Amino acid sequence: MTREELCAKAVSMLDMAYAPYSHFRVGAALECDDGTVYTGCNIENASYTPTNCAERTAVFKAVSEGHRKFVRIAIAAETERFTAPCGVCRQVLSEFDPELKLEVILVNREGRTFARPLKDFFPYSFDSTLLEE
Ligand code: THU
Repeated sequence: MTREELCAKAVSMLDMAYAPYSHFRVGAALECDDGTVYTGCNIENASYTPTNCAERTAVFKAVSEGHRKFVRIAIAAETERFTAPCGVCRQVLSEFDPELKLEVILVNREGRTFARPLKDFFPYSFDSTLLEE
């Protein structure tokens, strides 16, 4: 899949977002090492804290279907600035990518993109090796 196609999938997920409280819609498309793509959207809740971000929706869909190796994630929002993944999503993405090599592609409302490895978003992260010390 081309980068444009992956980004288009993330953008198309904006329509699936359930964001009646924030009205801030986010779509994601997560590409696995075998080329499978899992999409996600944010899913809010009246109790606020159970809200799930688009990125985590995509990761949880993928892992629950047996995929744990990811190469790229496209994240689309309707902001002019690029919407970057929240801290919780960075932590969840890093769980399955300890070397932080995942390519994170942000898509703004004009369809412009900004791509960096997860490492750039999440340096000095907490990871499972610390649990072994
Ligand atoms: N949100 C995401 O889905 N992903 C992000 O990267 C940032 C925030 C959602 C959570 C909530 O539904 C709304 O955006 C406002 O925070």
